[in-house]
Amino acid sequence: MQIISSPLAMRAACKAYQRGSAQQTIGLVPTMGALHEGHLSLVRASRKSCDRTVVSIFVNPLQFGPAEDLARYPRTFQQDCLLLEQEGVDLLFAPSPEEMYPPGTETIVDVPVIGARLDGASRPGHFRGVATVVAKLFNIVQPGCAFFGEKDAAQVAVLRKMVRDLNFDLNLVVCPTVRESSELAMSSRNRYLSETERIEAETLSRSLRAVMDIVRQGERRTSVIRETLSKELMHSNVLKIDYADLVDPDTLETLDEDTLPAETLVAVAAWIGTTRLIDNCTLRIDGANA
Ligand code: PAF
Repeated sequence: MQIISSPLAMRAACKAYQRGSAQQTIGLVPTMGALHEGHLSLVRASRKSCDRTVVSIFVNPLQFGPAEDLARYPRTFQQDCLLLEQEGVDLLFAPSPEEMYPPGTETIVDVPVIGARLDGASRPGHFRGVATVVAKLFNIVQPGCAFFGEKDAAQVAVLRKMVRDLNFDLNLVVCPTVRESSELAMSSRNRYLSETERIEAETLSRSLRAVMDIVRQGERRTSVIRETLSKELMHSNVLKIDYADLVDPDTLETLDEDTLPAETLVAVAAWIGTTRLIDNCTLRIDGANA
């Protein structure tokens, strides 16, 4: 696996794959490192459908608020490289903040309406940082496919809109959330959790499971589903709920009707001590939850 830090060198390496008679397709897996099985599932999906797989590791300062965990965000570069080698990744792009944002950089990408919902409401500017860095990665790598995890459903909605609005010529592929055996959604931030916090954190996935169960049993009233979600989340008195909402998966707008539409995103975010975790599930009333 070749490791490249300069955006120019990266563009040249990707261009070399795409040039000539072979015209290989590139799959891009953008990450902030501290890799876990969730990231590796994206790499495997890319390897399956693209000729070349490119991973980026960049802890993007632009998407962290001033009081957030940028400085302590886990950085496990050596271990990440070993994992990516084992997965057969072709190129690793690992720029420094100065390479990604040279002095004088001022252009940003903003998806102001969707980007201000869910995580965007409690982390102002977060999705502006995500959209900006992902747009830059798309321009540098010019992938045919880019792979993201379903766990970051709000991020996916923002990036889908960006891809549509800015006419990026790529396929945004969303892969299922990978969970631990306890059903806790895998996240780089799980490593902040103590053993007891980890058990409390399982309340998130358990609450989503309870909601999926009542929908599978025929419940269609959003008021009842909301009530179930809140009640289940209250089983932990350690979790501080940031949001727990039923929204449209594309616009992230809160559902205001009392009957479930064909597809609903149930999204939750909570603080456990100083760690913020998110999780979600999609309710499909065509029986896909069964
Ligand atoms: O999901 C992440 O890890 C980040 O938000 C991303 C997409 C790599 C952009 O920094």
